Amino acid sequence: MGDPGDGPDTNAAWFARARRVIPGGVDSPVRSFASVGGTPYTVVRGEGPYVWDVEGRRYVDLVQSYGAVLLGHAHPVVTAAVASAAARGTTFGAPTEGEVRLAETICGRVPGCEQVRLVSSGTEAAMSAVRVARGYTGRDRVVKFAGCYHGHADALLAGGGSGVATLGLPDSAGVPRSAVADTVVAPYNVVPPVDETVACVIVEVVAANMGVVAPAPGFIEGLRRSCDEAGALLVFDEVITGFRLGPGGATAWCGVTPDLWCFGKVIGGGLPVGAFGGRRDVLEVLAPGGPVYQAGTLSGNPLATAAGLAVLGAFGPADHEELNGRAARFAGGLAEAIGSARLPVQTPVMGPLVGLFFSEEPVTDYEGARRSAANGLYARFFGAMLERGVALAPGPYEAMFPGLTHSDAVLDTVVEAAGAAAEAITVRA
Ligand SMILES: Cc1ncc(COP(=O)(O)O)c(C=O)c1O
Repeated sequence: MGDPGDGPDTNAAWFARARRVIPGGVDSPVRSFASVGGTPYTVVRGEGPYVWDVEGRRYVDLVQSYGAVLLGHAHPVVTAAVASAAARGTTFGAPTEGEVRLAETICGRVPGCEQVRLVSSGTEAAMSAVRVARGYTGRDRVVKFAGCYHGHADALLAGGGSGVATLGLPDSAGVPRSAVADTVVAPYNVVPPVDETVACVIVEVVAANMGVVAPAPGFIEGLRRSCDEAGALLVFDEVITGFRLGPGGATAWCGVTPDLWCFGKVIGGGLPVGAFGGRRDVLEVLAPGGPVYQAGTLSGNPLATAAGLAVLGAFGPADHEELNGRAARFAGGLAEAIGSARLPVQTPVMGPLVGLFFSEEPVTDYEGARRSAANGLYARFFGAMLERGVALAPGPYEAMFPGLTHSDAVLDTVVEAAGAAAEAITVRA
């Protein structure tokens, strides 16, 4: 239980306290319940597929820190690795073995990725990859896709999915027009024109910040071809897909090799990590050897690299296969349960990533995702699921993240809750 402090030990009391000292009561807008209504639950602990709130309620957690957690909460292998690393010192400002091992593991698994530099978040990874692309090509323009999210760096906040979309913001205030003057936003799943003013095209190979949207056949191959013809770099943002979609992430999954990668989430095992990587000749532009500056006091932090290595070591190819199978069965069960209540539903599944759209038609781009979100069914379903002890992300543009500890039995309870929740909101409608 939490510290009752100046009020009763309830979610409402904790959120009231939070709102006094934290803008909106949350440290990241995606945690807000602004688009679904109600009061966020304040978490005191997690274990495997579950989290518990300050009121002692248990939820099956499909948020899993938005994909940062793959082995379930408080997995003993991760806990032991972090404790052991902490006992040896938390940060040094000098090279450590852990960062070398994690970089070797990433390069060893992602085909074509020869070097990586570790940072502390996915935002930093994407921002730095774009800077490298600009430094390497000597060009300024960046092409991104509507509904893809690459963190909150100024140049990449145009047409973002995830929290920006959930809150209905067209883009973000506070970003100077000049900062996005060289950002071109194109529709996902259509190969855009790429000319010799373009430094890079950045893409989520499987889009997972507008729900889950698959790349159309030929889309990623088309991007590779267009970049090659124009001398632009192709950047895969694998912050979500990396080491989750499969052992070699989206790169091995789609068979197309980009010039640069962004990683995060899983590689930090639930601690703050990101990484950007690429071909050796491209990364040579980075300081100290080259003219592109990028740095970080806590980059390659020993606790985070220990946690990341523990996760990557514990989750092998057979685990990926098993999880993908479970996710596919879960998606099928969810569609059937919600469909039985005569609600329109799509549950796209890509590897272990499961999406949920209240839509008659499959969603292929941001426009489709927005149309589906506009009917308000997600918000009502979210509330009905929370009442039944299932925590989904409080916004319609997020993926569900079943992981190692979401057994078939656990997922069956979610499907059962989904059927009851769907019935309840149909009756109330
Ligand atoms: C694809 C993608 N890129 C980048 C980011 C930014 O990562 P972070 O939140 O660690 O800054 C996210 C975060 O959700 C993401 O999903």
